[in-house]
Amino acid sequence: MSFELFDGLDPPTEEVLADGAVLLRGHTLASAPQLLAEMRAVTEQAPWRHLVTPGGFTMSVAMSNCGRQGWVSDRHGYRYSACDPLSGLPWPAMPALFAQLAREAAARAGYADFDPDACLINRYAVGAKLSLHQDKDERALGQPIVSVSLGLPAVFLFGTDRRTDRPRKHRLQHGDVVVWGGPSRLAFHGIEPLPLGDHLLTGRFRYNLTFRKV
Ligand code: SIN
Ligand code: FE2
Repeated sequence: MSFELFDGLDPPTEEVLADGAVLLRGHTLASAPQLLAEMRAVTEQAPWRHLVTPGGFTMSVAMSNCGRQGWVSDRHGYRYSACDPLSGLPWPAMPALFAQLAREAAARAGYADFDPDACLINRYAVGAKLSLHQDKDERALGQPIVSVSLGLPAVFLFGTDRRTDRPRKHRLQHGDVVVWGGPSRLAFHGIEPLPLGDHLLTGRFRYNLTFRKV
């Protein structure tokens, strides 16, 4: 068996993180440059911004969205909105390539018929982090989360649905996709502060696309 496409790199492998949670290593390596180009087109329309939490903290991760619904936060709480609060316009449409990747990764992880209507786009600069949290602002808890890593590597924390259980650490690299649902749908997860680095395609940044069905 040969893996010409992966030219000197490891072939894609699957790693079970927990019951219902799978890390698909290198799953989207080949389409990453195109995903980044589509992402840049989205953020030209809906620019990066640092949201404020209900507690009044400004998030270190810069965010944008595409799709019918976008995740937003402000002093009033976390929620989904059909419009970008900065422009009052609907979020940019989800690129077909994004939706296709999300569906295909979900299916490979055992979740057929994933139908995402929201894609949160995260940008991490050096030191940016995401504290342990659950993705629970969606009504469709029967559908999984699909999370795509692009650019600089980061340490991903993945635990259980109890905040007090110590999460395990996984290094996420460019092209990796994590899918969690079923018994892991409400698992606490987060990203440790991004180390300094320089990536061929993304420079000093890590990007993450998180697909959800709201
Ligand atoms: C998230 O939990 O929304 C993002 C996780 C990541 O950046 O990998
Ligand atoms: Fe999350």
